[in-house]
Amino acid sequence: MPADVFTAPLKKPDHLGDDWLEPEQTHYDTEDDAIWDDLFARQMGVLPGRAASAFLAGLEKLDLGRGGVPEFKAISEELDRMTGWSVVPVPMLIPDHVFFWHLANRRFPAGNFIRTRETFDYIQEPDVFHDVFGHVPMLTDPVYADYMQEYGKAGWKAMRYNRLKALGALYWYTVEFGLIQEEGEIRAYGAGILSGPTEAVFATEAESPNRIMLNVDRVMRTDYVISDLQPTYFVIESYEDLYRKTVERDFDRLYRSLSPSFTYANSAVIDVDNVVHLGTQEYLLRGGRGSGAKPV
Ligand SMILES: [Fe+2]
Repeated sequence: MPADVFTAPLKKPDHLGDDWLEPEQTHYDTEDDAIWDDLFARQMGVLPGRAASAFLAGLEKLDLGRGGVPEFKAISEELDRMTGWSVVPVPMLIPDHVFFWHLANRRFPAGNFIRTRETFDYIQEPDVFHDVFGHVPMLTDPVYADYMQEYGKAGWKAMRYNRLKALGALYWYTVEFGLIQEEGEIRAYGAGILSGPTEAVFATEAESPNRIMLNVDRVMRTDYVISDLQPTYFVIESYEDLYRKTVERDFDRLYRSLSPSFTYANSAVIDVDNVVHLGTQEYLLRGGRGSGAKPV
């Protein structure tokens, strides 16, 4: 760990080593498995035609609907054969530099716990359903798998420049809430969209949000919403396009030109934008989550 890298002051549980890995995955009871199965079934009711084909193919390749919370060991073996990735159990929160280090070594850190019936519809913290159902299928795509590793490698550089916020926005608007053009349609590849029924429809079809072609400089200057549907989504042409626009560019130069805080509001449309859909922002203007506003 280079001395010039700031590390977040999270308290490491005593039983964990420097890698923050849990010695083993939680043992889930039958209710946990039933929650997984119900979440899985609900998503499969909305995702066909809305999820990226690479995601749906990944779900099938890894057989994540085999019943119950998947065993990380089993999916890691299959994933390793396909793209050299594995899934490793971690506590709910791990420090950024540890998260980046795992990604850079093709390990995806996944939360152990699963939501309850009370939080079935919405939880802010990522649980095993979000992490494994939402993120892991995309890791079966070779180009996307490389992108995720490069993202991890980019992390420490961002920390040295004190531009973690900007790199975080890139993660948010691609890995969590990314959209892709497929056969003239807009589909979702971001885990935050794919692991919830409302956002899967909202992100791909609703009139409210902006859909704008991905521009890395612009995205890294854009604020985002943590606890509600996004006012803006960014669209890629392909995973090669995503890889080219991010990995193959000079982030040193970019970081030097970025200010420490975000320049653009999360609902803003600016001159340089290549707009696919100009959102009405009706949902946001009516008050968003908790206001009774419909996600239209
Ligand atoms: Fe996530």
